[in-house]
Amino acid sequence: MPLVTTTEMFKKAYNGGYAVGAFNVNNMEIVQGITEAVAEEHAPVILQVSKGARAYANHNYLVKLVEAALVCNPDMPIALHLDHGPDFETCKSCIDGGFTSVMIDGSSLPFDQNIELTKRVVEYAHDHGVVVEAELGTLAGIEDDVQVSAEDSSYTRPEEVEEFVSRTGCDSLAIAIGTSHGAYKFKPGTKPQLRFDVLHEVEQRLPGFPIVLHGASSVPQEYVKMINEHGGNMPGAIGVPEEQLREAAKSAVCKINIDSDLRLAMTGTIRQFFMEHPDKFDPREYLKPARANIKELVRHKLVNVLGCAGKA
Ligand code: G3H
Ligand code: 13P
Ligand code: ZN
Repeated sequence: MPLVTTTEMFKKAYNGGYAVGAFNVNNMEIVQGITEAVAEEHAPVILQVSKGARAYANHNYLVKLVEAALVCNPDMPIALHLDHGPDFETCKSCIDGGFTSVMIDGSSLPFDQNIELTKRVVEYAHDHGVVVEAELGTLAGIEDDVQVSAEDSSYTRPEEVEEFVSRTGCDSLAIAIGTSHGAYKFKPGTKPQLRFDVLHEVEQRLPGFPIVLHGASSVPQEYVKMINEHGGNMPGAIGVPEEQLREAAKSAVCKINIDSDLRLAMTGTIRQFFMEHPDKFDPREYLKPARANIKELVRHKLVNVLGCAGKA
C-alpha cells in the first residue's frame, strides 16, 4: 500500500471513538521505533515532519526513511504529514515532494488572513490529492523557532469554527484547549486541566469533522527522572495527564500529536547509557536502547492513550 491520506483514518477514528497518533520524526531510529510498535499493534499512524526536521535531516532523507518503513510493513496505513507548515511555499514543497497531508499554521494571523492563507493551501493541496490541517487558537510553548508565552496563548473560540471550516475547505482543524508544546506545560503545583467545554462546543458545531490536538505529550515522569538522575536538569517538566487524552480521543479528536515524549525517552535512555558505560563510543550501542524505549513508549500510547491498537 502506498502512503495514504488521513481521510479514511479520520473517518474510522471519529466513528470508532479513538484517535490516530501523529508522531514527529527526525531520524532513522525514531522512524523505526514508531513503526515497529505500530506494525506489532496493527495501528494506523501519521508520521509528521516539522520545518525544523526538514532543516535538520533534509526533506529527501525523511521521505525515503518513511518510504523504507512502508517497504518493511507494506500493509501499514501510514500518512506523511507536514507539521506546522509556516507558509504556502513550504506546504507546496511538501505537497510536490511526496507528503500526503500538510498543516498550514496560520493561527498567529488575524482571522481573515488565516482563512485566506489556509484557503490558498487547501486549493493547491486538493488539486494534488493532499489533505490539509489548519489551526484556530494559539498554543503556548515552543514550536520550531517560535516561542509563545502562556499569556499570549488563547483558547479556540467555538463561535468561529464553522465559518473558518466552510470558508477554507480544510480537512481537519487543530484547536487550543489548554495543551501546549514542549516539556513544561503546566506550572508545578497547579492542576492540569484541558477545556473539555471548548472541545465539546466545537464538536457540536462541526458534527463529523476531525479535530486535532497539538502539544499532547504527557511528559512521562520516569523519563524526566532518568534524565535528572543522569546529569540532566529538567525541574518542573509536566505534561497532559493521559486520562484526559484518553477522554479526548473518544470525542471528535481524531489526531493527537506527540513529539516531546519521544525526545524525553531518547535523551533519558542515552544519558543513562553514557553514565553506565563511560567507555563506550559506538553510536549503535546507545541508539539501540533509545530506539527500543521509543518503541515501548509508542506501544503504550497506541494501546492505553489513543485507543487505536488493532484498528489498521
Ligand atoms: O510542535 C512542534 C514539534 O514538536 C516539532 O518540533 O520544530 O523542534 O521539530 P521542532
Ligand atoms: P508535544 O511537544 O506536546 O509533544 O507536542 C507536539 C506537537 O504538537 C507537534 O506539532
Ligand atoms: Zn504542534
